[in-house]
Amino acid sequence: NTSTSVAASQMRNALNALTDTVKDPEEKKRFETEMDNFFALFRRYLNDKAKGNQVSWDRIAPPNPQQVQDYNTLPEGNAVEFLNKLAVLKLNGGLGTSMGCVGPKSVIEVRDGMSFLDLSVRQIEYLNRTYNVNVPFILMNSFNTDSDTKNIIKKYEGHNVDIMTFNQSRYPRVLKDSLLPAPKSYDSQISDWYPPGHGDVFESLYNSGILDQLIERGVEIIFLSNADNLGAVVDLRILQHMVESKAEYIMELTDKTKADVKGGTIIDYEDSVRLLEIAQVAKEHVNEFKSIKKFKYFNTNNIWLNAKAIKRVVENNELEMEIIPNNKSIPADKKGESDLSIVQLETAVGAAIRHFGNAHGVNVPRRRFLPVKTCSDLMLVKSDLYTLQHGQLVIDPNRFGPAPLIKLGNDFKKVSDFQKHIPSIPKIVELDHLTITGAVNLGSNVTMKGTVIIVATEGSTIDVPPGSVLENVVVQGSLRL
Ligand code: UTP
Repeated sequence: NTSTSVAASQMRNALNALTDTVKDPEEKKRFETEMDNFFALFRRYLNDKAKGNQVSWDRIAPPNPQQVQDYNTLPEGNAVEFLNKLAVLKLNGGLGTSMGCVGPKSVIEVRDGMSFLDLSVRQIEYLNRTYNVNVPFILMNSFNTDSDTKNIIKKYEGHNVDIMTFNQSRYPRVLKDSLLPAPKSYDSQISDWYPPGHGDVFESLYNSGILDQLIERGVEIIFLSNADNLGAVVDLRILQHMVESKAEYIMELTDKTKADVKGGTIIDYEDSVRLLEIAQVAKEHVNEFKSIKKFKYFNTNNIWLNAKAIKRVVENNELEMEIIPNNKSIPADKKGESDLSIVQLETAVGAAIRHFGNAHGVNVPRRRFLPVKTCSDLMLVKSDLYTLQHGQLVIDPNRFGPAPLIKLGNDFKKVSDFQKHIPSIPKIVELDHLTITGAVNLGSNVTMKGTVIIVATEGSTIDVPPGSVLENVVVQGSLRL
């Protein structure tokens, strides 16, 4: 296809020109590799577009029993000896913008003055102390999060945990009209670049040299998870299963409920296990994809990887993760200019499952998936429903059933607004469902039980007095209680 090859060669020339703008020879070498990797991704994107690459729905089946093991059937052995082969890696390239924060998301305060990062470090310190091991803690930063993260982890020097960081790739955003890179030079403005999704972890870990360092120090298994998943603690049963099953890749899945029908799911595709994301599904099959009967599990992004297998798939160029094109509009920097339409090509770590030997899923309890994506999630993890034990959140044993469903409205999008309206978190151990919309302020020491709905109409405020007990109530309108 000529238009594909023209676009590819134009991109290649533009990338060469970009590389020529790097002065420092060491930097240049590193950047060249980065741009080669980007070019491979871009070319694959063009080819997929030309072929109309979509999974064929007829070949998709729910996973077979060998492809998903039940966590409860894993033997409860003594995996402590395997801790010497383990490293823990957190995906830390993302910013806190969706929760209205500047800087890395992992530095948002979660509990008792501690951030996601602090909690993770605490967990590893406890593990190292308890079992007298030295599990390293690794952070994959992006150019957006690296300097802030490094400043923050300085305080852990001298602690009982080795913290290593590396940067994921910095790829050029692509102008939609011309299919050329947005940046004109190596030091072009930050908004011309993007971190290409967590699927980048394989190449970045390898290119940084950290993968080899880990292998040299005897690490065989890497446990990776989202920095904002507070449920992703080291689990000795899965670790042992990872060693004994000789799997190169294990994806932790959990039962899909009606609230998480959009999450990626594991499928059997012509006898091999794959991840299927909603973006890959044609419109007419979306409802079937969402069905919690047909596709029962979703990906928690807690993933266990064999270190040597990562090395092999990177060196042999075996990774072909599905590309997720993310279309964005960048606001014009000068008045009178129009906004820029760009596309950034991303990949996800879950999509790599099909490139690893003996890869399979383990269906884990929901407690291993405790993500904080919104202030509603934040309210839950800050509440009395959990207690903090060595950096780990443990649910109150008196809680019956799943965690309550909390829906806070638009006034609670930013962490700062959330804190303004809810300066002290209500007691919610007996809560099932909470909806708050409009300008609602909670006083201290409020208890909520059952289903509580508080709706302040536009232009009005509801102040819930300190010490209130709200049980199965709807509070509506503008009244002050
Ligand atoms: P996402 O922003 O992708 O979260 O970040 P999500 O909406 O849950 O999406 P998926 O389904 O997991 O993709 C998930 C984790 O990956 C990191 C973020 O910092 C977060 O911890 N991340 C994301 C990176 O490290 N690099 C990236 O390029 C993107």
